[in-house]
Amino acid sequence: MKKSKISTLKNGRQNHAAYTDEDHLVWRLLFDKQMEQLGNRASLHFMEGLKKTGFTRENIPHFEEVNRRLIKLTGWQVVAVEGIVEDREFFELLSERKFPATTWLRSQDQLEYLEEPDMFHDVFAHVPLLSNPAFADFLQQISRIALRYAGNEEAIELLSRVYWFTVEFGLIREKGQLRIYGAGILSSAGESTYCLGLDPMHFEFGVEQILNTGYCKSEFQDRYFIIDSFEKLFASTAEISELIDTMMSKRKIFAPEEMSKNGQDLVPSW
Ligand code: CO
Repeated sequence: MKKSKISTLKNGRQNHAAYTDEDHLVWRLLFDKQMEQLGNRASLHFMEGLKKTGFTRENIPHFEEVNRRLIKLTGWQVVAVEGIVEDREFFELLSERKFPATTWLRSQDQLEYLEEPDMFHDVFAHVPLLSNPAFADFLQQISRIALRYAGNEEAIELLSRVYWFTVEFGLIREKGQLRIYGAGILSSAGESTYCLGLDPMHFEFGVEQILNTGYCKSEFQDRYFIIDSFEKLFASTAEISELIDTMMSKRKIFAPEEMSKNGQDLVPSW
């Protein structure tokens, strides 16, 4: 929940001077907790990305500084937004290699649970992997497919499943070990342990299966999909595009050329 105080978003930019002592403390507490959780659980690409983006426990990231680094690495940048972005705008930004991120931080009494994503999720959990070229290309490519179907609720729902089970809740196999790369897990202390355990189901990444799997936003996931590499994930975008085209043409409705101009909030941006 957003707090009423001096805004950390001013004229469409992060207002870093507005962060309070509590904000700095919350960042440190969350950072420390997740580093303890993720040391041997997160993808090595994510851990490397944390270093490349310059994130530390001591400092709430300055978007400008992060962007100076990211632009050099993959051409991506973070743009400050107020909250969840409507899906057409969301995909337009991604297609321009711009990642929308909120600037506010949760309060100290909300460390564990959030109703909507704050900056710790959007920045700590999402931004480091934007330094990985194959992952960065994947994200841009799925946004391009989404834009072809902007306003088509069914197609956007299918793409939101892909986004959900990869960008937010994806697992990767690295050196024979299961690791986390999905931001929804990386920013959750509880789910970062749970997802690798025996309770949830684990499937190999499969485009068709993911397109046919709905998801739940309010609880831990009951299933996760495992990729072998970000290069293979990027390569799967051809199949994602083809399968969605086929599924849409079979329905004979919502063809891309009939798309309406008012895409609604079907795709979660977290
Ligand atoms: Co997210």
